[in-house]
Amino acid sequence: MNDKILIRGKHRLSGEVVVSSCKNSAVAILPSVVLASEIVKLYDVPDIEDIKVLIKLLEELNIDVRVSGDELTIDPTNIRYIDLVSDEVKKLRASYYFMGALLGRFKHVKMYSPGGCNLGPRPIDLHLKGFEALGARIHSEGELIEIEADELIGNDIYLDISSVGATINIMLAACFAKGRTTIANAAKEPEIIDLSSMLNKMGAQIRGAGTSEITINGVSRLKGCIHDIIPDRIEAGTYIIAAAAVGENVTVSNVIPQHIEALTSKLEEMGVELEIGSDYVKVLKAEKLKPVDIITQPFPGLATDLQQPLTALMTKADGVSRVEETIYIERFKHCDELNKMGANISHENGRAIINGPTPLKGADIRATDLRCGAALIIAGLMAEGETTISDAYHIYRGYDSIGEKLRNIGADID
Ligand code: EPU
Repeated sequence: MNDKILIRGKHRLSGEVVVSSCKNSAVAILPSVVLASEIVKLYDVPDIEDIKVLIKLLEELNIDVRVSGDELTIDPTNIRYIDLVSDEVKKLRASYYFMGALLGRFKHVKMYSPGGCNLGPRPIDLHLKGFEALGARIHSEGELIEIEADELIGNDIYLDISSVGATINIMLAACFAKGRTTIANAAKEPEIIDLSSMLNKMGAQIRGAGTSEITINGVSRLKGCIHDIIPDRIEAGTYIIAAAAVGENVTVSNVIPQHIEALTSKLEEMGVELEIGSDYVKVLKAEKLKPVDIITQPFPGLATDLQQPLTALMTKADGVSRVEETIYIERFKHCDELNKMGANISHENGRAIINGPTPLKGADIRATDLRCGAALIIAGLMAEGETTISDAYHIYRGYDSIGEKLRNIGADID
């Protein structure tokens, strides 16, 4: 795999970018097919590395997956349980959705702990407590986790933190639990609504997704379905920020604007002129940017995944911007890379201070995680001269055809 991205900066962006479907929906939806007894057809599946890894894991379970363009036909009728102990499991965070799905289907799962971006500590205690509340027993040995239950019985579960992953994993395990499960302080992210609407098409009885209380009435079987995955709000936000940084008249389409209101209102506060349509956001122009303060929060607050790309944009603002990261307090590795390009950012204890404006210069920098990579691409587009981003595989994990999409609107990127 070519693992470096080269950007020659300062080319103005204009034109249209069409956003792909949502990574964080798709990575929950694929493992959920373990629960189906019939064929599931998915449309608009993003062409990203995380999906390729999940397909391999489905195939390890003897699930037949046919790929045709952006359509996946997944046939779980010959599913066969095996322990998930291949290296694929460690390549992404979302492999942990096989815990809930296999526990639901087979009442047993043994697998490696998940991998994923290094954003500091990423415990899964809430997932495991949720499984225990449904009647499961957990044994951990090194990197291996084994979860089993004689039967799963619905229960009332309160999440100490409204975790996206724990909400989804408990939903998956509870689909076949006897009786009713409620998840209080559930996460409200759009990806949870997308997964629940797909599971309901398959015959699940899930109510309240998108609110802080989700109820799941257990059923005994789930059938097949056809499902279109929602657009990726983080990809949309990334291109909108890139356009605000070096663009004019850039239309980012296939967007659900309500999913990114926290971002668009912050950009307007910075002085970015936007036109917001029913399914697009157009960046008209962004000349003099004002500094702003941001705080990351669970949905509908400003997404932590957009904090990193926004930090790159803040280097252009005239004055001091402040970032408070409340979800992953160590998610600041991009700041050290941006400083190598001439930014003036200090950070500690979950907070960053960005002193702008600082013109950026091309440099050799490293993507330490997926959204760090997105931030560095934006910085490279803004910078004078050539920027080389190494460890670009992080970026391909989550951005469908990013080079091509940016080239189409005028970027010089290889
Ligand atoms: N947390 C716990 N215990 C748990 C679970 C979470 O303490 O058992 C904490 C986490 O450490 C974090 C907070 O709760 O401080 C929220 O974590 P959450 O579980 O919501 O995150 P996640 O499910 O692991 C998903 C996305 C992330 C995104 C976060 C927050 C997927 C596969 N990942 O992670 O996406 O940043 O929600 O919105 O859906 C990305 O796409 O780049 C990415 C990292």
